[in-house]
Amino acid sequence: MTLSIRKVAVLGAGTMGHGIAQVCAQAGYEVALRDVAEGALAKGIAAVQKSLDRLVEKGKLDAAERARVLAAITPTTQLADAVRDADVVIEAIPERMEWKLETFREIDASAPPHALLGTNTSSLSVTEIAGAVRDPSRVVGLHFFNPVPVMELVEIVRGIRTSEAALDDARALVTKLGKKPIVVRDFPGFATSRLGVAIGAEAIRMLEQGVASAEDIDTAMKLGYRHPMGPLELTDLVGLDVRLAILEHLHREVGEQFRPPALLRQMVRAGKLGRKSGEGFYVYAKS
Ligand code: CAA
Repeated sequence: MTLSIRKVAVLGAGTMGHGIAQVCAQAGYEVALRDVAEGALAKGIAAVQKSLDRLVEKGKLDAAERARVLAAITPTTQLADAVRDADVVIEAIPERMEWKLETFREIDASAPPHALLGTNTSSLSVTEIAGAVRDPSRVVGLHFFNPVPVMELVEIVRGIRTSEAALDDARALVTKLGKKPIVVRDFPGFATSRLGVAIGAEAIRMLEQGVASAEDIDTAMKLGYRHPMGPLELTDLVGLDVRLAILEHLHREVGEQFRPPALLRQMVRAGKLGRKSGEGFYVYAKS
């Protein structure tokens, strides 16, 4: 039987988490948005407001619907409160395995047994994460893309112990969110991160080698390949720290072709993380 969904708990109010909370609320679900810090929650809610304002300005959403969507999202710092009566839990915390395992142990202690448990990890093992809960058959990867309200794909990752029923529930959820699902096996980097970081890392190496300027490398892929953004602009959007973490993981798990470029490490050490820090391969005006 397909899961009946009333409430979704989203854990982590960062770039991905607040976007996921928004699309779930827009699809008509009640949403609990949890982060460890009040400040992060306030930032996440402000970002949802800004994104909804854009939709209202474009005439894609009316003011009453904007108010309904915002009212459907309840921010909280308490994980147990967020997941207690949730039908779906989506974890979107930073990409550190030990944090994910701890979070899934906490989810397991408070979420109802029927709940579908999703992780938005972009490269870590869904099978390993699922090992933190008593029933790993209910755990799937639900990999969203940034900016979540705009991007049409969700990559569903099937862990070794993910059940057919959980996969069906995940497909139904993704479709209800207005997005297109693809299903991939639990292999490091899945389909999207593996291809995405390969192009991004090569672009950074080309910049290091002086092949062309950042602008020209980006223009090459925008005009020559019709990518909506160049690989360096996209790295700024995703976050240099996020891409470095994915590359380090794929380097360990898949092989030499994913060795992170030295320039990327240096920029992360210097705090140049992309749009969120105000500077990456480009400089951004403070918003
Ligand atoms: N909320 C709501 N709407 C938004 C939005 C947001 N946060 N951001 C953009 N939009 C809307 C705009 O309002 C606009 O709507 P209309 O078409 O109705 O006018 C539309 O999206 C396009 O935006 P813009 O006109 O401002 O700018 P653009 O045409 O340059 O598009 C972009 C911006 C959507 C980001 C586009 O450049 C793009 O698709 N870039 C590639 C993004 C990408 O590859 N993301 C994946 C990153 S990898 C990842 O996320 C996974 C991972 O694991 C790290």
